[in-house]
Amino acid sequence: MSSSQPLKSSSSSQARAEELRRLLNRAAHAYYVLDAPEMEDPVYDQLYRELQALEHQDSTLVSPDSPTQRVGGRLAEGFRSVRHRIALFSLDNAFNRDELHGWYGRLLKVLDRAPAEGAPPPALAMVGELKIDGNALALSYENGVLVRAATRGDGEQGEEITANVRTISSIPLRLHLEPAPAWVEVRGEAFIPDATFHAINNERLSRDEALFANPRNACAGTLRQLDPSVVASRRLDFFAYTLQLPDDWQGRRPLTQWDALQWLGDAGFKVNPNAGLLPDLQSVEQFFDTWDTERRQLNYATDGVVVKLNDLRLQDAAGFTQKAPRWAIALKYPAEEAPSRLVRLTYQVGRTGVITPVAEFEPVALAGTSVSRATLHNADRLAELDLHSGDTIVVRKAGEIIPEVLRVLPELRPEGAQPLDLPHQCPSCDSELVRESGEAATRCVNSSCPAILRGALRHWVSKGALDVEGMGGKLIGQLVERGLVHAISDLYRLDAALLSSLERMGEKSAENLVTAIEASRAQPWARQLYGLGIHHVGEVNAKALAAAFPDVDTLAQTAIDHPEAISELHGIGSEINQSLQQWFNTGANQKLIQQLQDVGLSLATSEQERQDLASRNSTIGVLSGQTVVLTGTLPTMSRTQAKELIEAAGGKVSGSVSKKTSFVLAGEEAGSKLEKANKLGLNVIDEAGLIALLKSTET
Ligand code: IVH
Repeated sequence: MSSSQPLKSSSSSQARAEELRRLLNRAAHAYYVLDAPEMEDPVYDQLYRELQALEHQDSTLVSPDSPTQRVGGRLAEGFRSVRHRIALFSLDNAFNRDELHGWYGRLLKVLDRAPAEGAPPPALAMVGELKIDGNALALSYENGVLVRAATRGDGEQGEEITANVRTISSIPLRLHLEPAPAWVEVRGEAFIPDATFHAINNERLSRDEALFANPRNACAGTLRQLDPSVVASRRLDFFAYTLQLPDDWQGRRPLTQWDALQWLGDAGFKVNPNAGLLPDLQSVEQFFDTWDTERRQLNYATDGVVVKLNDLRLQDAAGFTQKAPRWAIALKYPAEEAPSRLVRLTYQVGRTGVITPVAEFEPVALAGTSVSRATLHNADRLAELDLHSGDTIVVRKAGEIIPEVLRVLPELRPEGAQPLDLPHQCPSCDSELVRESGEAATRCVNSSCPAILRGALRHWVSKGALDVEGMGGKLIGQLVERGLVHAISDLYRLDAALLSSLERMGEKSAENLVTAIEASRAQPWARQLYGLGIHHVGEVNAKALAAAFPDVDTLAQTAIDHPEAISELHGIGSEINQSLQQWFNTGANQKLIQQLQDVGLSLATSEQERQDLASRNSTIGVLSGQTVVLTGTLPTMSRTQAKELIEAAGGKVSGSVSKKTSFVLAGEEAGSKLEKANKLGLNVIDEAGLIALLKSTET
């Protein structure tokens, strides 16, 4: 076996790595910033893998601006606090025209341009920008390379979240400037587009996790995630809006805010295209009015317009107050919140037994719809609000956002009002509720609770799972109530005669339903797994798990005996193995699996799926059809990285050596697997050998 020293980088691989970085960064900019893709996905993937292989081979080739550094960095233990080079100020708000005019008057005064009595105020050019409802970030670039990213924090000090920010594809890792300034600070807003926000919440809903109240909270929560791979999966975006350069910078320096936006765009940032250069206050008002309606078409949340003096020298002259610049103001759209009276507090029982308090209140019109219910998430939120019966509450709903109870107005509380809390008994089955220490959720743990069964059934038949058409919530309610269905497996025993005896169920629809239920047996294993509704196993994780484990028995065995093998899978977070272990160790769930198998559900990869998969892989790469066993510690790659590379080349990684093994990839301290491989006379290669093998296709 060769030594574990990485090969010295030859100048040609150095040059190739540089070229790949340049090509890939350019393609990402075209895709994420300009919205004008210039490279086909498979080409991108191919070049990316080539760069990855080069970097694996020689870690000195890895540079901070490499696209490989965007994903899956190391888990953080917490965040370091950093002092901002230049404080991040907040903005003063104006809620109406008078306040806008007041601000403008004060601005003219500090600039010594106040008009004489009765004369019209002089016009100053301003830039109107949408106020993005996200989280401010400060990005530091040194010699053109992103070296640090921080949250706003208290304005003086923020948290260093560089690894997370690197995952934001629209943020350049290297500026498109030659030469680049010694340093530059760029500020802007990180945000989550509405569609992504809904996808995240749907995924959370399917996993019975607390929902994010709005995209801004989701964004803030994501930026402070300790696992950068979770951040990468959330697809944040970023608009840049200001910059600071060193005083001695001799290169291009913007003189106006309008130029600054241009400068940022040229440097590779995404700049909001909906800014306007506005010659006077009247055009500011027009801009504000236009966007009040137009903003509803945007795919991200805005809560106002930021008005900035265009001339940067005038900005300097105007300066700052204690907390905000005098040269800018946030013109806010009216808040989409209103008071209402609490009518009652009800409790929902989720399919995993989680109890969610729901406030029902007198209907109020908000953001164009009538709203009368809002979830309060959990007992902690309830306590935080200090909600009492008959309370007047403030409710908020903006655009697409889920309504939330913002606060309670205790001064309007009726006399003798009782504080509200979660019940001790399940509202559906009356059994004692449980709240484990350290958990936010209160749960019903009765496995035959009808509310839990209804939830489990609804999930099983839902679109992403077994997708049984015509099986709605009302019907499920009837089936459970009448004792026709006691478990998911009972669905597969229903016949048309029985179904047509139910309310609003004709013979024809009963037959169709039975056909739909029967057809659902052929759904792929990943959907069946997702349908089981295991905590943390959403559609994405179910796919990854189903690809790695051919059937439920193998998965259960691994989850119980070797849970660590599960989190070694690509993209599978560490909390999942625990959840799987717990789930498969629970008697009621073992029974559920047995019942499903008894009615003929495979809970396994079907022959058809296997063939499809094989034919897809065989077109990919040099290792297609080959089975590789990993053993020992590799000099530079982690096992996960090696596994990814092998799979990317179409190979399969197996845990045990047999005659079917194509070859063994062995590192330091390889043990019995290597012995067995030698005994069987199998090919054994080391890391360098693997890289050479993978590279052999790229020429
Ligand atoms: S400029 C010194 N421009 O609004 C002025 N801020 O309420 C710095 N925001 O903390 C801010 N969109 O997070 C500016 N186009 C925009 C903005 C914007 C959103 C946020 C920013 C700021 C907050 C103040």
